[in-house]
Amino acid sequence: MNNHATLLCVVFLVTSHTVESKSKTRKFPPDFIFGASTSAYQVEGAWHEDGKAVSIWDVACHKHPSPIKDDSTGDVSADSYHKFHQDVRAAADLGLDFYRFSISWPRVLPNGFGDKINQYGIDYYNDLIDDLLSKNITPMVTIYHWDLPYNLQKLGGWTNPLIIEWYTDYAKFLFERLGEKVRYWITINDPKEICAKGYGSDTQAPFLNITGVAEYLCARNVLIAHAKAYHIYDEQYRKIQNGSVGISLGFVWYEAASDTSEDHQAAYDARQFEWGLYANPIFSKNGNFPEDVKKSVSVKSAEQGYPRSRLPVLSPKEIAMLKGSADFLGVNAFTTKLTYRDASLDGMYPTPSYMDDMGAVLVKDPSWTQSHSGWLQEVPWGFFKLFMEIKMLYDNPPVYITANGWPNDGGLLDEDRIRYMRNYLNAMLDAINEGCDIRGYSMWSLIDTFEWRHGYLDKFGLYQVDFSNSEKTRTPRKSAFIYKQIIKSKVLDP
Ligand code: NOJ
Repeated sequence: MNNHATLLCVVFLVTSHTVESKSKTRKFPPDFIFGASTSAYQVEGAWHEDGKAVSIWDVACHKHPSPIKDDSTGDVSADSYHKFHQDVRAAADLGLDFYRFSISWPRVLPNGFGDKINQYGIDYYNDLIDDLLSKNITPMVTIYHWDLPYNLQKLGGWTNPLIIEWYTDYAKFLFERLGEKVRYWITINDPKEICAKGYGSDTQAPFLNITGVAEYLCARNVLIAHAKAYHIYDEQYRKIQNGSVGISLGFVWYEAASDTSEDHQAAYDARQFEWGLYANPIFSKNGNFPEDVKKSVSVKSAEQGYPRSRLPVLSPKEIAMLKGSADFLGVNAFTTKLTYRDASLDGMYPTPSYMDDMGAVLVKDPSWTQSHSGWLQEVPWGFFKLFMEIKMLYDNPPVYITANGWPNDGGLLDEDRIRYMRNYLNAMLDAINEGCDIRGYSMWSLIDTFEWRHGYLDKFGLYQVDFSNSEKTRTPRKSAFIYKQIIKSKVLDP
C-alpha cells in the first residue's frame, strides 16, 4: 500500500471509531493471559553483590550531580535479588498467568562477553523461575532491559556493530542455561528508549547525546542483534525448548492535531519515526526501515552536508534476516500525543536529530487526564487506534501487551490507576472485537520500581513497596484487588 492509501485507511479507521465501546461483550477471550512486569535494574538492587559487575545505569546513578530527579539509585530498590519470593507470592496472589521480568546482563556475564560466567547470577534466575513455575506462573523473560554491562559501553555500546556478537553470545547463553523452563523470550525492551534517548539525548543511560547519528547506528545494531538472536533460537533451540521469541517496542499514539492532511501526515510521520523505525524491518513485508523515514533522513543529511545518509543502509542479507524475525510483537504503550506541522517552529529540535528529521511537533492536549507529574496522558481511544494501525500495517501479528500502566505519587487507594486500567482494557477489548490478535496483557508494574530518571517519584506498582524499611514491605493496592478480580472472572466488570 502506498503512503497516501495507508494514510486514508488510517484516517478512515480513526474516524469510524467512537470513544465509547461499541460492543457489549466485555469478556476476555478464553485463552487470553494476564501478567505483570518489572525489570532487573528497576527492582533487583544488589548492585555489586555476588559477582555482579556494573551496568551503565549503576554508573549513571552514581554520578555527581545525579541525572536522576530525586538523586536516587537502583542500588537497593525493592531488593528483589533477596526478596524475589515475595514478588512471586504477590504474583500468585493476583492469579497471574505470567510474570515478565528481565535478566541483568552484568549479573550473569560480568565482562559482557561470554568469557566469565557468574554462577550466582544464573542461580538467582533459576531460583526465580523455579519459584514461578511451582506456582503455575509462566515466566516471560526479557533478555535486555537497558542495563548494559559498563565494560561494553566503554567500547561504544550499541553503536559498535560488534555488539551484535556480544549480544547474541549472551542470548545464546541464556537459551542454553534457562531455555528449558522459558516459553516466552523478549529479546530487547523498547529500542527507541535505548537509542533515541540513550544515544541521541541525555535522558537515558548512557546519556551520550550524539543526536541524529548515534541513535540511528544504535537502531541498526539493536535490530540486527534481535534478528540474529531470533534465528539462533529458531534454528537451534525451538524444537527442543518449544518457546517463542518476540521483541517489545515502545509505542505512543500520535494523533493529528487538526483534520488537515498536513497534520495527518505529521502524525503518521511521527509514528513511523518513533516506532515504525523498529517495527517495519521486522513486521512489514519489505523488511526495511520505513520508506518515508529513509527519504527524510537522507534529504536532511544531504542538506546538512553529510556525505551519506545518517540512517545506515540495510543490506539485502540483513533485510532477509530481519523480515519476519519475531513470533510476536510486545507492545509497551501508555499514552497519546497531538501532532502538527508548523514551519515557523523549524529549529525547535536539535539539528541533526530524529525529531528534526521527523519535522513534526508533538504536544499534550491539556484537556486529557494527566498523570501527577504530567508526563503521561490517559487516552484510551489512542490505545485502540494503535492496535488498529498495528493490525493494518503489519498484517495483524500476534500481540502481547508487555507494559501498560499509570503512575502516581503513592498511596494504597489508587482510584486513578483503576480507572486507567479499566479504560485501557476496555479499549483493548474493542480492538480484539475488531479482529486484532491481542493474546495477553501485562500491567506495568507488579511492584513499585526505580522509574529511571524519575527515580522513586513515580509509582506504578499494583503493590506498594515501602522503600524506607529494610524489609521493603510489599502491600497490595486497591488496583491489585481489582486486577485480581478481572483475572479470575475474565470479565471486565465482574
Ligand atoms: C516501559 C519501560 O519498559 C519501563 O522500564 C518503564 O518503567 C515503564 N515504561 C514506565 O515508564
